[in-house]
Amino acid sequence: MQITQAKFSTSSPSVEKCPGGVPRHEYAFIGRSNVGKSSLINMLTGQKALAMTSSKPGKTMLINYFLINDSWWIVDLPGYGYAARSKADRLRLEQMIKGYILGRKEMTNLFVLIDSRHKPQKIDLEFMDWLGENGIPFSIVFTKLDKLTSGAAKKLTADYLAALLERWEELPPVFRTSSEDKRGRDAILDYIEEMNQLPLDAE
Ligand code: GTP
Ligand code: MG
Repeated sequence: MQITQAKFSTSSPSVEKCPGGVPRHEYAFIGRSNVGKSSLINMLTGQKALAMTSSKPGKTMLINYFLINDSWWIVDLPGYGYAARSKADRLRLEQMIKGYILGRKEMTNLFVLIDSRHKPQKIDLEFMDWLGENGIPFSIVFTKLDKLTSGAAKKLTADYLAALLERWEELPPVFRTSSEDKRGRDAILDYIEEMNQLPLDAE
C-alpha cells in the first residue's frame, strides 16, 4: 500500500474524546516509553516530523490521531513504564491507555513495540498477557534493528519469541523494523491494507 496523505488530526486526553463520526479502521502503536513508537509512525508515513519524537522518554502524553489517505487512522499512544514520572501521572496515563484499548471498538489492531536489543521484560510480558485476557487483537513489532548486527538481531528476536511460546500457545503476527533504515515498512503496510478490507466491527 502507498501512503499518499498523512495528516495530524487531533490529540485526545481520553477515549471519550476520541474522534466520532464515521468509524474508520484504526491502528494504534503502544510500548514502553522511548521504544520508538512515534519514529515508527513517521517512518511508515514517510513524514519525518508528523509524530513528535524525543531522545528523552515520556514525550507522547496524549492519544494522537493521524488521518491516512483520507480513510483510516494511525494512533500514537503514550508509552508505559516511564519510572521518572510521578505516581499520579503514571496512574493517569495507565487509565488513559487502558481506557482507550478496552473502549475503542474500531481499533482494528494494536501494534506492541518491543526494543529488539533487550531480553523479555516483565512489564511488556504482563501487558501482552493483559491484552490476551481481554481479547484485544495485537501484533508484535521489534524496533531499532539497525542497532544490532544481523546475527544478534536473529538470535535476540528468536529468543524473545521462544520465551513467549513458553507462556502462550501461538504467536501473534511479528514484524522486525528499523525507523532508520526503513526495514519492515512494506510488511506492516501490507498487513494494514489486508485488515482495511475486513468489515469494521465497531458496535
Ligand atoms: P515516548 O513517546 O516517549 O513514549 O517514546 P516513543 O516510543 O514515541 O519513542 P520515539 O519515537 O520518540 O524514539 C525515542 C528515541 O529512539 C529517539 O531518539 C529516536 O530517534 C530513537 N529511535 C526510534 N526508533 C529508532 C530506530 O529504529 N533506530 C534507531 N537507531 N533509533 C531509533
Ligand atoms: Mg512518542
